[in-house]
Amino acid sequence: MTNPTAVPEPGPHDATKTYAAAGADTDVAAIAPDPSLAEDILADTPAVDVFDADTHREAKEIIARYPMSRSALLPMLHLVQSVQGYVSQEGIAFCAQHLDLTDAEVSAVATFYTMYKRRPCGEHLVSVCTNTLCAALGGDDIYKKLQTHLGSAEKPLGHEETAGTPGEAGSITLEHAECLAACDLGPVIQVNYEYFDNQTPEQAVALVDALQAGKKPAPTRGAALTDFKGAERQLAGFWPEDEAAYRSAVDGPSQAVETLRGAQIAADRGWSAPGMQDVPLPEVEKK
Ligand code: FES
Repeated sequence: MTNPTAVPEPGPHDATKTYAAAGADTDVAAIAPDPSLAEDILADTPAVDVFDADTHREAKEIIARYPMSRSALLPMLHLVQSVQGYVSQEGIAFCAQHLDLTDAEVSAVATFYTMYKRRPCGEHLVSVCTNTLCAALGGDDIYKKLQTHLGSAEKPLGHEETAGTPGEAGSITLEHAECLAACDLGPVIQVNYEYFDNQTPEQAVALVDALQAGKKPAPTRGAALTDFKGAERQLAGFWPEDEAAYRSAVDGPSQAVETLRGAQIAADRGWSAPGMQDVPLPEVEKK
C-alpha cells in the first residue's frame, strides 16, 4: 500500500514543518536542503523529556526493588501510564533508557498485555466482561448498551475508544474485557479495575452517567474509586501518604457471599481437604 501523505516541497520552512510533523526521530539531515540548516533546526528543537525529575526518581525507586533491573519493567510501564494516561513512544524510550533494554523489547511487553494502553485513556477506564459466563448473563447487552449510550446509535463507541477528550474530567474509555475473575458475580464491570458486581444495562448506564458528572460511586468490593492515572500509580507501587487517603485506597469489602459459599458449606458440614503431602522441592541445577 502506498503512503498517501503528500511529500512537502523542499525549502527551509517546509523542512521545519516536516520535522515537527514527523516527530523527533526523523532524520532532519535527509530532508533539509542545506546541512547547516539541519543543524539549526536540531539546535532549535531541544529533546523534550516529558517525564519530570520526580518521575525519574520514582523509576529508580521501582528499579531498586528488584535484584535485576529488567524485572522492574511492568511497574515502570504503570508509572508511565500514571503520568501520561497511556504508554507513549516517549514512555517506551523512558523505560528502555532506565532498564538498559531496547525500545523493541519494551514495546514487545507493552503490546502483549492489555492493561497497557497505546492510546490516551479517559479519566476513567470502564471494562465490561464479555467472556462466556458474563456474556450469557447479560455482559454482551451491557457492552452494547454502553457503546450506544457513550457514542450514538449511528456511531457506537468502539473497543478502547473514549467518550470525551482523553485525560479531561468526565472522559470515559470503554473496553470489553476477557474474564475479570469474578464469574460468580457476573455480569461484572470494572472501573479503573475496581469491581461493580451483578450489573444490568440500566445500572451500567447510571454508573457511567455518574462518572461523567464527576461522581465516584462506591464499588461493590475493594477500594474507593480514584481515576485511571491514580489506579496506575498504585499499580506502580506508590500509595497516598495521607492516612485517610491511604486507608480509602486499601480498605473496602474484599469478599462476596457467593465467592465464599463453597467454603461456608464445607465448614457447616465439617468437610476438610486432605492434608498436603510434604513433597521435597527438586534440587536446583547448578550451572
Ligand atoms: S466470565 Fe466475567 S468474570 Fe469470568
